[in-house]
Amino acid sequence: MATSSSNTPLVQLTTPADRPREVADASGAGLGPPATLIYNDWYPALRSAELGGKQLKTTLLLGIPMVLGRKTDGSLFAMRDSCPHRGIPLSCGWFNGESLACKYHGWEFEPVSGQCTTIPSLTSEDKLDPTRIFGTAFPCIEHDGYAWVYVPEPGSGRVDTPLASLPPVPEAPKFGDRFRSAHLTADLPCNVDHGIIGLMDPAHGPFVHQSWWWRKPSSIHEKQKHFEPIPEGFRMAAHAPSGNSAPYKLLGVYGEPITTTIDFQLPNRRIETIRCGPKWFSSITTVTPTTTRACRIDVFAAWNIFYAVPGVTTIAKFFGKRFVAQDQETMVEQAEGLRYNPTLMLIDDADRPAKWYFALKQARLDGSGKHPMPGPVTLRWRS
Ligand code: FES
Ligand SMILES: [Fe+2]
Repeated sequence: MATSSSNTPLVQLTTPADRPREVADASGAGLGPPATLIYNDWYPALRSAELGGKQLKTTLLLGIPMVLGRKTDGSLFAMRDSCPHRGIPLSCGWFNGESLACKYHGWEFEPVSGQCTTIPSLTSEDKLDPTRIFGTAFPCIEHDGYAWVYVPEPGSGRVDTPLASLPPVPEAPKFGDRFRSAHLTADLPCNVDHGIIGLMDPAHGPFVHQSWWWRKPSSIHEKQKHFEPIPEGFRMAAHAPSGNSAPYKLLGVYGEPITTTIDFQLPNRRIETIRCGPKWFSSITTVTPTTTRACRIDVFAAWNIFYAVPGVTTIAKFFGKRFVAQDQETMVEQAEGLRYNPTLMLIDDADRPAKWYFALKQARLDGSGKHPMPGPVTLRWRS
């Protein structure tokens, strides 16, 4: 088994200091330097519960303005929020549950395919066939309470690949039909890379998440975790979870061995599974770039642990919210520091997962498919 070496050189994390410094964009939505984005993959655009009736919802996904809605038959759609005629946002128009009409000249679109069905100004003399015109529609699927949108490489045109040929939409594993669930979300004013490496950072817990029920600096102790490569990611192999946190102690009441597995997979997903006999908890956390400089963290958790205990969802949400808010507050502060594009570093072993992330991302972007892990690796750190 390969183990970590402690003398790997530091890794340069941002653009070198001799490059021009990035400053806040006008909206203030992201303060630090931009990140390269990964296209041709699924991202959660917004909560699917927000979509219904004749409502249209807008969002920014990988810098693309999107308009989303739900047709009367229940299917979701996501279109570029821009009319292919003269660019007015389609969200300014009208949706009747079936078709989306542009506010400017009334062109109508079937929003799942993006196909134009009607151009009101055409006369019987006109040869133009409206159905040959398409607005940009993106594949959109509902899973775990999100509208997941497949975002192709910019300029690659309409995605007419059948859904079955696209990569599968990620979801949190479930081990039965009876479970409770909750969603959490937080905007982060840093680029997606910082959001993701914050997500996989094992060393911040005792400082950022200090509290009686989780961690405190005095509870820090040495840990050793085994990681193994998985396609476009890595897995923290099944292990008995950290004994110094109250939620895991709580699970002890079931008297069964507890194991937890954490996967990270490109472009942006962390999937955690905790199993304790027939009881389970699972979550999918994604960090989605809204623009090159800003991102959003979304957490969906499902569990059957304490299923029958009244108020458990409220309690879980309360603690989950505090937890995410602590990360968010820290990243808001970090973004303040990042706006001056400082030189940063990644150290072994605690930042090794972050190094893997950057290497995996690079391999995806340059198409080499090279995995940075030679095989199973044991990392050690104190947290
Ligand atoms: S701009 Fe949309 S129909 Fe003309
Ligand atoms: Fe955190």
